[in-house]
Amino acid sequence: MSASTTKPNGKADIEGLFQQAAMRAAAYRTALPGQGIRPVASVEDIAKGFDLPTPETGAHGSDIIQQLADAAEPGLMAMASPRFFGWVIGGSHPVGVAADMMTSAWGQNSCMSYATPAAAYAEKTAAGWLLDLLDLPREASVGFVTGATMANFVCLAAARTRMYKKIGWDIDEQGFIGAPAIRALIGEDAHASVYSALQYLGFGRASATRVATDAQGRMIATALKAELAASDSPAIVICQAGQINTGAIDPFEDIVPICRKFGAHLHVDGAFGLWARACRDRAHLAVGIDGADSWATDGHKWLQLPYESGFAIVRDEAAHRAAMSICASYLINEDKPYNPKDYVPELSRRARGFPAWAVIRALGREGIDEMISRHCCLARQLANRLRREPGIAVLNAVNLNQLIVDFDIDGPDRARDVRAIVRRINERNHVLVETAEWRRRLILRVSITSGETRREDIQVLEREIVEAWRKSSHHPQQTSNTTPSPEPQHVTA
Ligand SMILES: Cc1ncc(COP(=O)(O)O)c(C=O)c1O
Repeated sequence: MSASTTKPNGKADIEGLFQQAAMRAAAYRTALPGQGIRPVASVEDIAKGFDLPTPETGAHGSDIIQQLADAAEPGLMAMASPRFFGWVIGGSHPVGVAADMMTSAWGQNSCMSYATPAAAYAEKTAAGWLLDLLDLPREASVGFVTGATMANFVCLAAARTRMYKKIGWDIDEQGFIGAPAIRALIGEDAHASVYSALQYLGFGRASATRVATDAQGRMIATALKAELAASDSPAIVICQAGQINTGAIDPFEDIVPICRKFGAHLHVDGAFGLWARACRDRAHLAVGIDGADSWATDGHKWLQLPYESGFAIVRDEAAHRAAMSICASYLINEDKPYNPKDYVPELSRRARGFPAWAVIRALGREGIDEMISRHCCLARQLANRLRREPGIAVLNAVNLNQLIVDFDIDGPDRARDVRAIVRRINERNHVLVETAEWRRRLILRVSITSGETRREDIQVLEREIVEAWRKSSHHPQQTSNTTPSPEPQHVTA
């Protein structure tokens, strides 16, 4: 078949193709609630669907879309399901998905407002809404990036620019060779992605000074103070809102004045925890955070934006632009105050402002507040229920959406046996949970982050965890063989 016959050109071809894709996508999404979470096909089976010889000729668009969906769907994990609790992943709000489809169809390279005022101003408006919802300094600039890893990278690049400027060194022009030293200080329980950002920026992963944390993973303010006092070098302090296992938020009311006193740049990795600020019930956990200098957060976690979405928020807009701006003779900067390219590493990228604008518009302040409050209440109730089950402990103070679930298992095969419980839960395929390490102990971690997760989903989760534990050879009844355990009671609120 020649290329001219395979390319969808006419109105009917394009409409048919887009409708086919939209209908197939809708069928997938509407089937998600109540469906299994794990991919149904093995990697080997999935490979067979994709692993074709390099195509020598084109094929008909509608055949390809069908082939793609047939090949992919058995290999998808239902991450947008309300019963997905494995990692901190949002539910990909349908309005955002629809806006994202249009974003693809519009085909905008969103770098300049001269070229695409719609992409630029959807982004600018969504940025203003974000600052309002999170109650951060309204003058801060916002870069729309792929996720919190890149948001941390952009914010720390701006921090580097700012701190070097203070000591008269233009790091973006002159680089590190011959530059005076700047220190990075980071909490012991920081997320792995922040170390990647430090690596990309030339600080290196190992050179950051680790600051002690408490039992919940929160930075200890007095330890930070002692570390800052120990050297005169300018410092970038990296804190977090939302520890990946405990959900804990650093004590910003104590940390902000310390950073001010020592003239340090304070950056916050708030991939999900920053959203406590958008919830009336939880905002008290993140008081003082607006006194920081930069904040990284995700759209594709608690805000339920489809992948990929993160926000790099920087108080000092000039430093943000200096660290990121790309200039060339053919890029038109004049007259327009807002060019999305000035705040992110990429020159060409998709117009991430459209889905962000659409999802915030769809949920509104009230919808975001309700969702975060609901998730946190469900997490607390689940923790209370699990704590009543003999042999199960919840190790963290459940103030946000994360739970560290531990089982009364000891001995050299402990990790293997915890994995076996998690495997048993996941094999039943009613929910999905994963393991993580906390204080060098393998635990089961629960993240409640999916927009549509409700009480009945948490009841299923509770039942699955408790039943899998009761079947474990480590359960007190399996070892003592006394009366059977009562049915798991369910979360009631
Ligand atoms: C605290 C924290 N920071 C950073 C990240 C990285 O975010 P992303 O995967 O969106 O790049 C995560 C991801 O879970 C996180 O929980």
